[in-house]
Amino acid sequence: MHQENQTTISEFILLGFSNQVEQQKIVFVLFLSMYLVTMVGNGLIILAIGLDSHLHTPMYLFLANLSLADMSSTSTSVPKMLINIQTKSQAISYDNCITQMYFFIVFVTTGNFLLGVMAYDRFVAICHPLNYMTIMQPRLCALLTGIPWVLGNVVAMTHTSLLIQLVFCDKNIIPHFFCDLAPLLKLSCSDTMVNELVLFVLGLSVITFPFILILFSYIRIVSTVLRISSTERKWKAFSTCGSHLTVVLLFYGTIVGVYFIPSSAQPDDRDKIGAVLFTVVTPMLNPFIYSLRNKDMKSALRKILNRKRFLPLMPWTSKSPSSL
Ligand SMILES: *[C@@H]1O[C@H](CO)[C@@H](O)[C@H](O)[C@H]1NC(C)=O
Repeated sequence: MHQENQTTISEFILLGFSNQVEQQKIVFVLFLSMYLVTMVGNGLIILAIGLDSHLHTPMYLFLANLSLADMSSTSTSVPKMLINIQTKSQAISYDNCITQMYFFIVFVTTGNFLLGVMAYDRFVAICHPLNYMTIMQPRLCALLTGIPWVLGNVVAMTHTSLLIQLVFCDKNIIPHFFCDLAPLLKLSCSDTMVNELVLFVLGLSVITFPFILILFSYIRIVSTVLRISSTERKWKAFSTCGSHLTVVLLFYGTIVGVYFIPSSAQPDDRDKIGAVLFTVVTPMLNPFIYSLRNKDMKSALRKILNRKRFLPLMPWTSKSPSSL
């Protein structure tokens, strides 16, 4: 049953967004800027959380993991696209294409499950505030961050091992800007029934499980918050989950907007727009949502940015005065 050798295609062509030079220039500048903002924003979040011991709490460790997943998923797709525009080549080798797809699935799946874990964390913090520290022990915390990464790899391995069974005969043009699973399946000349079934089932689970966790958590959070009598404390309780809720709404709002609202866009274009929103725009916005709304995050970032020299950033010198 070894069919890998029958694959006659050694490379794929990624059409990207446009083949007109002027438009390509705009796409290049736009995506390079968004990529840099994403890397700097999420990088600062990881740095701020890593360096500030006040932020060594479960909520921020989950957030740092989300930032890592976001940085990584953007990095699987955008740099290759930028290089292809710059070198005026649209090719990607078969192996690179499969690798790109694998890591893209890992990071997107992980990020998705982390959103669910973060909702659960807020649920415990708001509905069981007195037991929060006893429930969120380092071991549970490590488990809750580990599971999304393991699941991400399991999902990606499943898709990839099914994909490499497929034979690609003559079609090798991907109307997309990176090697995503769905457009690859359309190019194969094998029967892709099983692949599509698995894509549907796993895709649905990856969206549904975190969604149910988020829904459950927020139903409990809202009912707890509503029972608080003082308005001030109500707001305080709610503000600790405001950033997470914003990210969640942005994420699921995008899914609904792209895939459920009928539009006149071509299916290929719609997939591309969806991919841009999930892989580039949402990861770029997450740091802003978290750091703009959160006082502790803001002060940790201010500490980093106020340092005039890079040296005091190093952990071993962090006790030196920072205001020079
Ligand atoms: C992810 O979470 C784990 C455990 O909760 C933590 O040890 C690790 O530092 C986090 N990763 C990042 C990049 O902060």
